[in-house]
Amino acid sequence: MKRTLGVCYYPEHWPEAQWAEDAARMAALGLTWVRIGEFAWKRMEPCEGAYEWDWLDRAIETLGAAGLRVVLGTPTATPPAWVVQKHPDMLAVDAEGRTRGYGSRRHYCFSHPGFIGECRRIVTAMAKRYSDNPHVAAWQTDNEYGCHDTTLSYSKAARSAFRDWLRGQFPGQGNDGDIDALNTAWGNVFWSMDYDDFDQIGLPNLTVTEPNPAHVLAFRRFTSDQVVAFNRVQTDIIRAHSQAPIAHNYMGRITDFDHFKVGADLDIASWDSYPLGFLEDRAGANAAHQRAYAQQGDPDFQAFHHDLYRAVGAARGSHPKGGGRWWVMEQQPGPVNWAPHNPSPLDGMVRLWTWEAFAHGAEAVCYFRWRQAPFAQEQMHAGLLRPDSVAAEAFAEAETVMAELAEAPDVTVAQAPVAIVFDYDADAAWAVQPHGAGLSYFALVFDWYRSLRKLGLSVDILPATCRDFDGYQLVLAPGMMHMPDALKAALAETTAQVILGPRTAARDAHFNIPIPLPPAWPGSDLTVSRVQSLRPDMPVPLEGAGAVHSYFEQIEGGGAVVLATQEGTAVAVRCGSNVTYMAGWGDDAAHMQLIRSVAPALPMEEMPEGVRCRETRGETFWFNYAAHGVDVAGTHLPAAGVLRRPRA
Ligand code: GAL
Repeated sequence: MKRTLGVCYYPEHWPEAQWAEDAARMAALGLTWVRIGEFAWKRMEPCEGAYEWDWLDRAIETLGAAGLRVVLGTPTATPPAWVVQKHPDMLAVDAEGRTRGYGSRRHYCFSHPGFIGECRRIVTAMAKRYSDNPHVAAWQTDNEYGCHDTTLSYSKAARSAFRDWLRGQFPGQGNDGDIDALNTAWGNVFWSMDYDDFDQIGLPNLTVTEPNPAHVLAFRRFTSDQVVAFNRVQTDIIRAHSQAPIAHNYMGRITDFDHFKVGADLDIASWDSYPLGFLEDRAGANAAHQRAYAQQGDPDFQAFHHDLYRAVGAARGSHPKGGGRWWVMEQQPGPVNWAPHNPSPLDGMVRLWTWEAFAHGAEAVCYFRWRQAPFAQEQMHAGLLRPDSVAAEAFAEAETVMAELAEAPDVTVAQAPVAIVFDYDADAAWAVQPHGAGLSYFALVFDWYRSLRKLGLSVDILPATCRDFDGYQLVLAPGMMHMPDALKAALAETTAQVILGPRTAARDAHFNIPIPLPPAWPGSDLTVSRVQSLRPDMPVPLEGAGAVHSYFEQIEGGGAVVLATQEGTAVAVRCGSNVTYMAGWGDDAAHMQLIRSVAPALPMEEMPEGVRCRETRGETFWFNYAAHGVDVAGTHLPAAGVLRRPRA
């Protein structure tokens, strides 16, 4: 498939007289896609049932006539005031019990039946009107589920839906669930928490001390299922009317719903990539790293999400290995408005970010946004154009990419030699019980990902439902707290080397410690006999290189010791014929030492600081995230440089 560029555009923000010129400039730049509509509910339906489509018809016609293909967004992330007035209890409630207010966006609870009815209505009306429109070539549902911390809601609607969901999880006679089964599964005998009836079950907020972790995990799983169901209402309606593919734009490091399950209802996964915006509070780096990459972004954060969403894009029907259809729906073009600090990208970074997405298999990269808005919340957010319509810095970089794409072969994805399992349920389990301040599953997996990439490896991410690991030399499943037996069996049987731990298989499906004790690996007597979390200032140095920090388990049994502390305590041991269990959270040097030792045949080459490499079927790419030039692959790569070569 041809690689394409696009842009996010808000015709309702600009005088109609400007649309044709904007469309002509987009087309002249070489853009293929223009995404519109996702926040325009009030303009589409100023009051209940009184639709105004004429302006949108004309906007689509103007853009289409210029040769652009429209991605039409459903506007359900911004219900207008009249919808909220009609359903005052549709607003989400936060963990402190406060109703979240109207006046920005995403002000809804995923469980409110009245609001879902309003969504059904506006999406049906849109789908009917635009399904035959030749310019509408794709759909986007809503906007960024989970952004602004909006999935967990402690409203009355959520509580009632949660009780029904639990009845379904613990089915009993008739319509009611089996409350005794729930009590047993959750261990409710502890602190006299046994329920007599599902209607006694509340939401796990505002408890005196911590609620039962099984209760919290169930609530998180329920919340994830509510997002899936909410999205499915829209995809079912759109599919009933339109053949065009459907996407949703996910976020960076939003893990509070299962993206693979949402992805199973979509044709294209997409995400919104803000490398500088994410650096300070999502990439998890220390202050020195943040300073070094302040104008480039973390060297692995974008790539991780590209690989993750390539996997999410494969969730609908097709094979999970290698990945499926995915886009960058919003690409940062300059300083943004919302991060703790908002520097400009280094010259060349917008081009680098765009090429990096293509190297990871993106079909399209769309810049956010066409023109900087001089009004409202995002007036400090750059676009391809300044508010006065003069080209901003990123415009020229987009032109460069366009020119390069014209001469470049299509990028094709190849199965990587290494895979990491990413499990949203494990992320929820760590969030419920981190066991040490600030510890998270995302950070553990991301640390492993970075170590692999420092060794120059390309990586696939796989869902926890994967059972076929053919073709991989190494598969990692660190921290996956509940590991179903079928996945254990598949990993025990694959020809790939496997790295597990810490905390892999540490809990059963309802958050109890399993007996025999973890990891209870087929054919191995390895036992995690004691667990501890460590203060940030107490790393334990390892023999060879590196250290473990944050999380360190004591183990008994197992096979040969692969990594040990300088005092001789086992840290990584063989467990079964192809499996190594890592009983701690390693730093990069520890991880790299282990990877080299268990899978020495991998095509590894340590990268210079800030450089990352990615192989497609036909090409090898190198990206320089460092703020200075580096020598790599026999050449000098300047800051923000991209090197593209036919694959050796
Ligand atoms: C995204 C969002 C856009 C815009 C952008 C600003 O998270 O989808 O609507 O707000 O951030 O960076």
